Amino acid sequence: MGAIDVTEQDSATPDYTMGYGEEYLQALLRLSAKIHAAHLLPYLEPGLKVLDFGCGPGTISIGLAEAVAPAEVHGIDMEPSQIDLAKMFAARYGLDNLTFHVGDVTALPFDDDEFDVAYCHNVLMHVPDTQAVLGEVKRVLKPGGLIASREMISESSFTHPDFGVLRKAWDMFEDLVAADDGHPQMGKDMKAHFVKAGFTRIRTSAAFESYTTPEDVAFIHQVAQQWFLSPEITEAAIKYGAATRELCDAIGTAYDRWKDHPGAFAAIAEGELVAWKPAC
Ligand SMILES: C[S@@+](CC[C@H](N)C(=O)[O-])C[C@H]1O[C@@H](n2cnc3c(N)ncnc32)[C@H](O)[C@@H]1O
Repeated sequence: MGAIDVTEQDSATPDYTMGYGEEYLQALLRLSAKIHAAHLLPYLEPGLKVLDFGCGPGTISIGLAEAVAPAEVHGIDMEPSQIDLAKMFAARYGLDNLTFHVGDVTALPFDDDEFDVAYCHNVLMHVPDTQAVLGEVKRVLKPGGLIASREMISESSFTHPDFGVLRKAWDMFEDLVAADDGHPQMGKDMKAHFVKAGFTRIRTSAAFESYTTPEDVAFIHQVAQQWFLSPEITEAAIKYGAATRELCDAIGTAYDRWKDHPGAFAAIAEGELVAWKPAC
């Protein structure tokens, strides 16, 4: 999808680390079900009713809706601006089986046993009470229903070469997510959470999302400079003690060097999971 102007929207909030500014939104607009729900797609077929919880701008929801049409897909997110965008994109795709709602994933506006499948991508890492989300999603899943998730493993992600600095950018990100009561290693912690929540037949895997072409490297550099090192993020990091001004400046300089390095290669590690609600 092309760049869109969302400059009138609010930027990072104290509670949701990534914020809703244009720079981070451009990263979400690159996502697709084909890649970012690849471990779920083999389980989908026409007729299955799906919930995409924490759907953001809905770019993954669109692919899920294509996979299960004519059955309904419902996306839900707490941020009205993301839901407005999701509705706009769904209309562009002409999908009439996709509906978006503003709401909290810990208090879903759906009946018990309503969905065949529930999915989330990089949402559990931002919600403080993991059991509250999983319990609520389990409630709206049919007995025997499938839940799948894909969540970041920040400590296994990397930006190479590091110049002795860029690992500290990941550390800063982790401290910031934790300061917002999030879980930066959720991709590998989630299996235990799903066991505790009473899901069965849990299967986990892991994947790297790689950034290596000149376009990818330019994209990561832009996200780093314009989103991660934006005043909203750096001021929050300094306030929470996750960074100093000197560290932020050093990270900016290192990312400029990285962009021009012939070996520039970054990868985001993601844990993937499928599990089932017990049939009875
Ligand atoms: C990193 S974004 C991922 C969006 C989408 N799943 C994707 O991958 O494109 C996380 C999303 O979770 C949403 N979110 C976080 N906490 C939430 C909550 N308690 N209820 C509903 N949405 C929530 C945020 O508003 C944000 O849109």
